[in-house]
Amino acid sequence: MQAPFAFIHNQSIVRVSDIFASDLFKNHHVFVTGGGSGINLGVAKNFAALGADVSICGRSQERLDGAAAQLRELGGEVYTHAADVRDYAAVEAAMAGARAAFGPIATLVCGAAGNFPALAEKISPNGFKSVIDIDLIGSFHASRAAFEQLKESRGSIIFISAGQAFMPYPMQAHVGAAKAGVDMLMKDLAVDWGRYGIRCNSIAPGPIDDTEGMRRLAPGDGARERLAKIVPLGRLGHVDDIGAVAVFLASPLASYVTGTVLVADGGQNLLGAGFWSATIMGG
Ligand code: NAP
Ligand code: COA
Repeated sequence: MQAPFAFIHNQSIVRVSDIFASDLFKNHHVFVTGGGSGINLGVAKNFAALGADVSICGRSQERLDGAAAQLRELGGEVYTHAADVRDYAAVEAAMAGARAAFGPIATLVCGAAGNFPALAEKISPNGFKSVIDIDLIGSFHASRAAFEQLKESRGSIIFISAGQAFMPYPMQAHVGAAKAGVDMLMKDLAVDWGRYGIRCNSIAPGPIDDTEGMRRLAPGDGARERLAKIVPLGRLGHVDDIGAVAVFLASPLASYVTGTVLVADGGQNLLGAGFWSATIMGG
C-alpha cells in the first residue's frame, strides 16, 4: 500500500519517510489513546510508517480493529485494547497488555477526547464533567499508568490539546477548561518527571479537515471553505500535519524540548476566535 501520510509543503506532497529515516522508530513502542480514528489515527500512521510498534486504545473494539488493519497495511505491528480512559483500571490493563506485546512504551500520545458545541447555559453538570473526565482526567490516567514504562524507556508524552486551551471560543466552555487543564498537567509532569528523562509536550492542532471535531464544530454547507479562507496559510490542516509534528517531538531532534505547546494551526489562532465564530457560528 502506498503510504497515505503526505502533507503539503510548498505546494508539493511530502511523506514523512522522505524526511526521516524509515527505521527511525524501529523497536520504539508508541501508545495512542483514542487512536482508532481521526487525528490520533493519523499520528499513529506517521509513527507506523517510520517503523514503530503501535498500540491503540478507545472504547470501540470494532473501530480499533478497523484502524489496526490500516496500520498493518503500512507494515507496522499493532496491539489494540478496548478501554475507556475514564476507567483507570481499564487503562492500566491496556498498558500492561501493550507492554507484553512490545516492551516498555517509549512515546505516549494522549489523544482521547470528547466535544460537542453548546452554550454554557445548555451544558448540564454531567455534560461538563464528561468532557473533563475524558480529556483531562483521561490524560492523567494514561500518563500515570504509563509512568513506570516511560521511566524505563526515558520516553516522552505528547498531549493532543487545542486552541480552546488558550483562546475563549463560544460554545466551548467545557472543552476550554479541559484542554487548558491538559496543558498545565503537561507542564507539571514535565517538571516532576524531567528527572527521569521523560519529556512532556502538547500539540494544539488547528482546524483539521475530515475529522469528527470539524464535523461537530464546523457543520453545514460551505463551512470548510469559509474557514479555510480565514486561516493565514489559506488551507485547512491535514491529520498528517499533526502526525509530522508528533514525529518531530518524539524524535531525538527534540531531545531538549519539554514543557511546550506546539501550535500547528496554519496561524488560525493569530486572528483570535472571533473570526471562527463569525465565520462558522454566526457571531
Ligand atoms: P475523533 O476521531 O472523534 O477522535 C477522538 C478519539 O477518542 C476517538 O477515536 C474515540 O474513540 C476516542 N475516545 C473518545 N472518548 C474516549 C474515552 N472515554 N476513552 C477512550 N477513547 C475515547 O476526533 P478528532 O477530531 O480526530 O480529535 C482527536 C483529537 O484532536 C482530540 O484530542 C481533539 O480534542 C483534538 N483536536 C481536534 C481538532 C480538529 O480539528 N478535529 C482540532 C484541535 C484539537 P471511541 O469513540 O471509540 O472511544
Ligand atoms: N449538547 C449538550 N449536552 C450534550 C450534548 C450536546 N450536543 N451531547 C452530550 N451532552 C451531554 C448529555 O446530555 C449528558 O448529560 P446529561 O446526563 O446531563 O443528559 C452528557 O453530555 C454525557 O453524554 P453521554 O452521551 O452519556 O456521554 P458519553 O460518555 O457516552 O459521550 C461525549 C461523551 C458526550 C463527549 C460524546 O460526544 C463522545 O463520546 N464524544 C467522542 C468523540 C468526539 O467528541 N470527537 C470530537 C473530537 S474530540
